[in-house]
Amino acid sequence: MKINEQRLLGNLHELRKFTTTPGEGVTRFSYTPMDAKARAYIIKRAEAAGCSVAIDALQNIRIGLGANVPGRPIVLAGSHIDTVQNGGWLDGIYGVCGALEVMETLTEEIGRGTFVPSCNYEVILFAEEEGSNFGSTMTGSKFLAGKYGEAELDSLKDGAGNTLRQRLAALADIPDAPECALPLYNRGDVDVSEVPLDFGTIKTMLELHIEQGPVLDREGLSMGIVDNIFGMRVVEFTLSGLGNHAGASPMSERADALCAAAEAITECESIVRSDEDHRTVVTFGHIEMLPNQSNVIPETVHLTMEVRDRDKAKIDGYTQICIDTFRSVCEERGLECSIHEHSSSVPIVLSRRLVGEMTRRAEDHQINFKVMDSGAVHDACMLAEHVDTGMIFAPSINGRSHVPEEDTDEADLVSAAQFLMDTVLEELK
Ligand code: GLV
Ligand code: MN
Ligand code: MN
Repeated sequence: MKINEQRLLGNLHELRKFTTTPGEGVTRFSYTPMDAKARAYIIKRAEAAGCSVAIDALQNIRIGLGANVPGRPIVLAGSHIDTVQNGGWLDGIYGVCGALEVMETLTEEIGRGTFVPSCNYEVILFAEEEGSNFGSTMTGSKFLAGKYGEAELDSLKDGAGNTLRQRLAALADIPDAPECALPLYNRGDVDVSEVPLDFGTIKTMLELHIEQGPVLDREGLSMGIVDNIFGMRVVEFTLSGLGNHAGASPMSERADALCAAAEAITECESIVRSDEDHRTVVTFGHIEMLPNQSNVIPETVHLTMEVRDRDKAKIDGYTQICIDTFRSVCEERGLECSIHEHSSSVPIVLSRRLVGEMTRRAEDHQINFKVMDSGAVHDACMLAEHVDTGMIFAPSINGRSHVPEEDTDEADLVSAAQFLMDTVLEELK
C-alpha cells in the first residue's frame, strides 16, 4: 500500500506557513492563534476523511479512522504540532503529517475494499511537547501517562506568570477558524481527570520523527530505527552576588554573578566533555541576568541546566557533579547559589518486538538504515512505559534541528513515512 507522497509533502509545506516568525523558522507555541490555525488545517483533513475527533482537557487530539470498530485494540501514530522559538519546519509536525498520510491512505484503501484491518487506527497529536510555554517537555503526554495531574496545572507557569490552568481556561478567547465544523479545542472546565489514557485499549504506539542529530546524515543512511531514548534532568540555578558600579568597584572586591556563572558553566562543560563514552550532554540553554546593564556589575543570574544520557546513573552522577561545581564556585567567589530541580524524564528502552520486526522489514526492503539512540526526548517516551512503542527517524541534513535551517531530503521524508505505513499495516493485521 503506497502513501501519496505529494499529499504528504503538500501538507508539510502548508503547515510550515503557520508560524509567527515568517522567514525566520517556525514558531508555533501550543494554545496560541497559530496553534489554532494548524489544528484547524489538520481537523479539516480528518473531517474530509470521515474521521472522528476527540480532544482532551490538555488539548491533545485523537483522530479515529471512520472504519474503526468500537472495542478493537488501537494502533496509535502521531507526534506534536508545537515548536520551539524560531524552530524548524519538521520537528513534530513531520510525525503528525506522516500519521495523517497513513490515515488518508487507509481510508481510501478500506473504502475500495482492498484492505480489511483487524485493529483500530488513530492519529494522536500531542500538545505542548517542546516546553516552549512552561519549560517542561512532553507536558501533554505526561498528562496522558498520568505523570502530571491537578498539581501541575497550578505549578507550571509560562514566562508571564500564567499557570497552565489559566492558559487552558483562556482558550475560549482564541477564535475558531470559520471553515472548521469540528471543535479546535476542548473549552469546557479545566478538568484533567479524564485525560490519562486507558492503556489496556492500546496495542501499539508509533512515532515518526526527524533525527535532529548528525548520525544518519554523516553515515549516508536514509532511516533510523530507535531503540533507546535519552532521559534528562533539568535544574535551575540562581546565583546572587552584589550589584555595584562597573567603574568604581576594584576587581578584587566584586561578587559578579555572571563571572561566577561563566566559570561554573565552563568547568561543567569540560567535566562532561571528558566522559569516557562521549555520550552524556550538558546544556545551559536559558539565562537571565539582572540588572543587565553595561555599567552595573551583574547581581543575579538565573539559568537552566539540562543533563542528558541514555544511562540514568550517568544523568544523576553528572547532575550532582555540576551542582557541586556551582556550589563551590559560588562559595569561593562569595555568592549565594540556590538550586531548584525543575523537571526530569528517565531513559527509555523502546519495544524490543517492534525494533526486531522493523529491522527485519527494513532489511527486506533493502533500506539503508541503522538501529540507534535518540538524544532528543519524544512523546513516545511517555507511552513506552505502558504499551509497545516504536520510533522511526528520517535523517536531518547537517544534523541541524530546533533552528530555522532544520531540513531533510524529500526522498527521505517520503521513504520513512512509507516505512511508517508498512509498520502500521503489520500492526493492524
Ligand atoms: C525535545 O525536543 C527535546 O528533546 O528537548
Ligand atoms: Mn519533536
Ligand atoms: Mn523539538
